[in-house]
Amino acid sequence: MYKESTNVVVKHLVNRLRDVQTASNEFRLTIEEISRIIAAEALQDFQTITKNIETWQGSLDVEMLEVQKLVLVPILRAGEPMLTGILRTLPYAKSGFLAMKRDEETALSKLFYENIPNLDGRTVLLLDPMIATGGSLIDGIDYLKEKGAKRIISLNILGAPEGVKAVQEAHPDVDIYIAQIDERLDENKYIRPGLGDAGDRAFNTNG
Ligand code: PRP
Ligand code: URA
Repeated sequence: MYKESTNVVVKHLVNRLRDVQTASNEFRLTIEEISRIIAAEALQDFQTITKNIETWQGSLDVEMLEVQKLVLVPILRAGEPMLTGILRTLPYAKSGFLAMKRDEETALSKLFYENIPNLDGRTVLLLDPMIATGGSLIDGIDYLKEKGAKRIISLNILGAPEGVKAVQEAHPDVDIYIAQIDERLDENKYIRPGLGDAGDRAFNTNG
């Protein structure tokens, strides 16, 4: 299943990312904000626990997200601001890391580094702003499944229809929550209209 956000605030923020006047600092902050909103959409039905807390009027049983059952995994580098944003909302979530880079000639992804905590009984929120061909995400999901992931939710900001379809075909059990799906992939396997290279935009390496 994939769910494209219908939230007008998300649309507004995505269009700020598209604007070339949006410099790297604001670009990262905007990715953080969008990620927090789509994470809230994705976690709407996530498991909760009852916790007894002291309030100003005495003890009270309250419902809390079972954050210990979540593992946030950004695909570096462009996924890093997504992690930063979501950790502001859920500071006690565990994090793991996958560092991948798409070869500029072949558009095939390569894994350079991984550090994934124990995934037993946990849900992974896999974070990557861009689904272009879908190759990086498919490889990242393959890897997490090898590491024992039973449930993976993918959070993404922009996708090409071709890439979203490829991920769904390769991993129909993975739910995709995405801010917006654009028109197409171009001849260089970039998303159109898209926003360019998200990693370069976020980390000021495009010039
Ligand atoms: C970008 C993006 C995705 C990937 C999407 O990363 O963040 O991971 O490309 O393309 P795909 O769907 O065709 O695989 P990139 O490899 O450019 O690395 P970066 O995050 O370091 O910029
Ligand atoms: N990676 C990006 O950052 N942007 C694209 O459009 C495609 C891949």
